[in-house]
Amino acid sequence: MKNLYGNIDDLKADHVRRLENLYRRKVPDTFLITPELARDVTHLSQELRRQIGLLIDRSGRVVSVIVGDAQKIVIPETPSHRTLPGRLKGLRCIHTHLKDEPLTSDDLTDLALLRLDMMAAVTMTPEGGVRMVHAAHILPKGSPEAPYQILDGLPPHRLDIGFTEVIRALESELAQIQSGFSGARGEERAVLVSVTTAPRKIAEDSLAELKELAVSGGIEVVETVLQQRKKVDPRFLIGRGKLQDLNLLALQKGISLIIFDQEMNASQMRSITDQIELKVIDRTQLILDIFAQRAQTREGKLQVELAQLKYLLPRLVTKNTAMSRLTGGIGGRGPGETKLEINRRRVRERINHLEKILGEVIKHRDRQKARRTKKGLPVVSIIGYTNAGKSTLLNSLTQSRVLAEDRLFATLDPSSRRLRFPRDIEVIITDTVGFIRDLPKDLMVAFRATLEELQSADLLLHIVDVSNPRYKEQVQSVERILSELDLQHIKVLRVLNKIDRVSPDDVAYLVHTLGGIPISALERKTLVPLTEKVAEEIEILSSIA
Ligand code: GTP
Repeated sequence: MKNLYGNIDDLKADHVRRLENLYRRKVPDTFLITPELARDVTHLSQELRRQIGLLIDRSGRVVSVIVGDAQKIVIPETPSHRTLPGRLKGLRCIHTHLKDEPLTSDDLTDLALLRLDMMAAVTMTPEGGVRMVHAAHILPKGSPEAPYQILDGLPPHRLDIGFTEVIRALESELAQIQSGFSGARGEERAVLVSVTTAPRKIAEDSLAELKELAVSGGIEVVETVLQQRKKVDPRFLIGRGKLQDLNLLALQKGISLIIFDQEMNASQMRSITDQIELKVIDRTQLILDIFAQRAQTREGKLQVELAQLKYLLPRLVTKNTAMSRLTGGIGGRGPGETKLEINRRRVRERINHLEKILGEVIKHRDRQKARRTKKGLPVVSIIGYTNAGKSTLLNSLTQSRVLAEDRLFATLDPSSRRLRFPRDIEVIITDTVGFIRDLPKDLMVAFRATLEELQSADLLLHIVDVSNPRYKEQVQSVERILSELDLQHIKVLRVLNKIDRVSPDDVAYLVHTLGGIPISALERKTLVPLTEKVAEEIEILSSIA
């Protein structure tokens, strides 16, 4: 027996049978709906005094029959009709309106959010006959103000609208848009969204940083959206209307991913993924993804996977049984619940397993470290905000080729070099993972490997990218993390990098206000004062020791 969606407990057997019979009906290619099917639905609707909806696929098959109340229907999830990026859903929704009212704004929102082929409302005569069919479809090249095409009302004898042709034309227009967007590098296209109570300037800076992060993660950022609020709703981070705009934007600009600047809790994540058929991640997940792309050593990889799973666990959500009009209130325990439990158990098992292997790996590393410190060379560690130029400096200093790329977090694993400084001073110099504000807690743990290394450093070189407009905040973030790591007792030398990108006057100002040694890590000749200073500091340290 097919399912009827909606509350049907109080329906008579005869009505249930007639509703179920709707599944046997088929609509020919060119029709939006046949006049007979429309009439049968309006008759039933009239008798029940409830809206009735049909989801019809491209082959004209009725795939869902929905029984609503007098005002609305709740469209069920249709897992076999997943929407692909840049495509329509392949389903149209046709439902009755008891009053003589055309498509409502809720109808149009559903059209956009679910990317239906078409949304249609059938209005009725007082006798339960078909008065008019009102239909609308998405306009692939529509503007934000006019994203749909609302067709003129169709009388019952005009329902043969060349439906398949219309949809084919829409899809080919969409495909054209997509092909214009699919970058040569096949990058994922994203919209960045911030919903915040923070002042505009802070929110914009944070979004700018999110953009740098996304780009360094190989994502193409198509748009950024900033929504300032007096209060952020803990349950729904963002309203339905805004989600609808995002969904249309996604369709029109070939976007497949939304990245939120705010960390989302499980219920916010759920409310959004329930309503929108796009991939949704938050800032933390983005950082985790980047870390995952870059981890190189076995320990690094294990640590990142562990951090990802720990972040994922409380956020593992299944979709609600109904996709839209959540306000209709959908009860909790569906069959998905048990599946969710299985997923959770698997994740927990994997976490335990990873923690065990990591324990072994860390023991091994400690043994190696003990061996190295026996050599007794002073250790200089390069630290700094991500992308400050740490690897470039190490490269230039050692003339070796440590990975240096213009992507954030290029360095995830400690890389150490033995180096001779002026006055024959030999040191071990290490490069560390880039710091970043609000580093997710699990990642702080995950990168203990690198950060613990800092405990044994004799001198820290704090590299600041003075060409970055947010250099002040970055310095503060790094210093905050240092104090969180209990490293204040280690001497820090500030190194002002990328001076080739700022004017000489600004360099003088920066040296005056921030203190430190100006360099351009790309130009080895600018490094002389730095190497002198490092040698001097090491000499002082060894004379104390
Ligand atoms: P993470 O590993 O992400 O923390 O980065 P990092 O701090 O190690 O930075 P990296 O050395 O990878 O440099 C980042 C980018 O800045 C690269 O494109 C470098 O070429 C560039 N860069 C580094 N130093 C300078 C400099 O002095 N001047 C200029 N113009 N660019 C620089």
